[in-house]
Amino acid sequence: AINGTKLSPHPRFDLSKNRKLTIDPKMYRCFNKYQVSCQNKTAIFKSRILSIFRKSMREYVNATNIYNVEFSTMLSNFDGKYYPSSCLLLEAGVRVLRRKDPPFNKLGFGKLFPKKKLFKEIKKIKTCAIVSSAGSLSGSNLGSFIDSHDIVMRFNHAPTKGYEDDVGSKTTIRVVNSQVVTKSEFNFTKAKIFQNVTIAAWDPGKYNGTLKDWLTSADFDIFTNYKIYRQHYPHSKAYLVDPHSIWRLWQGLQTFTQKSIRKNPPSSGFIGLALLLPHCPYVDFIEYIPSTRLTGKCHYYSKEMNSACTFGVWHPLAAEKLMALDMNTGDEYTVFQQGITRIRRPDKLLC
Ligand code: C5P
Repeated sequence: AINGTKLSPHPRFDLSKNRKLTIDPKMYRCFNKYQVSCQNKTAIFKSRILSIFRKSMREYVNATNIYNVEFSTMLSNFDGKYYPSSCLLLEAGVRVLRRKDPPFNKLGFGKLFPKKKLFKEIKKIKTCAIVSSAGSLSGSNLGSFIDSHDIVMRFNHAPTKGYEDDVGSKTTIRVVNSQVVTKSEFNFTKAKIFQNVTIAAWDPGKYNGTLKDWLTSADFDIFTNYKIYRQHYPHSKAYLVDPHSIWRLWQGLQTFTQKSIRKNPPSSGFIGLALLLPHCPYVDFIEYIPSTRLTGKCHYYSKEMNSACTFGVWHPLAAEKLMALDMNTGDEYTVFQQGITRIRRPDKLLC
């Protein structure tokens, strides 16, 4: 029954309901990457998307700083030097909490964390796909491509049933936000969609809060249902993302962007990318950078129209996507016509 329920990224804070698209992506569609007209269309579409990203970043920079973020980028460290953005992403060290992490090593609650590592046999992982929940996945026909990857990451309650042609059916891991864990409509502790997959649940806490503070100051009480879930399914692999690592990721994004970004946590999509990339030689991020299939639709599984789902503004989403594009190693056709951004794990020597 959770199919089709509405969840824009954070409805509570969504400042730009019903924002309309200002371009007609259909005009830029093409199917032969070697045709000159196709290359031109793709290049123009790319420049239109980049300008929407930049424009979205200028909006709401003066919004209230509800997480008490304090950070000044050390620009001098990076000035004039080439430093790969994928290194910034990895250095954030986005991770899940483990039993040995204080204060959880001394709290009964920490015993709930799985003993197992997030991924076993990392050396066997060759290919990973991350499936954004973007509306523009509709009609993509990327299902079998997605399923061909060793690891497939999805978000929140995004369904596969009924959408297999476009989004595939394999799910290895789900990154879920604290609203999905807590709100009764998602039925986190019982719904099938959250079972037999690895779960990485996140809540940002406050920027400078300790992990102990977090236990009482989470945006949504992620702990109660996490506890119920782990007690129901003691063999499950359900983890909590270290909130400090989420804010380090925000710092990495701010460092990359230089211009002031929204002082709110990154989207589940960007958190998922940073969590997964250390484990994969490369990640194919599907329909994160919008392709020419773009419509104003928020999710492929709902009818809600809201282009803010794709371009920001509650999350620093536009900045995230500009950084993802900087990390992309595929060609423009693959990104903007097919909707696949390929991000390689950087060589340690580079970082
Ligand atoms: O909306 P939700 O957070 O469940 O979507 C999962 C992720 O997919 C988002 O955090 C965002 O990174 C990405 N997304 C997107 N464009 C959309 C909808 C979602 O990039 N239109």
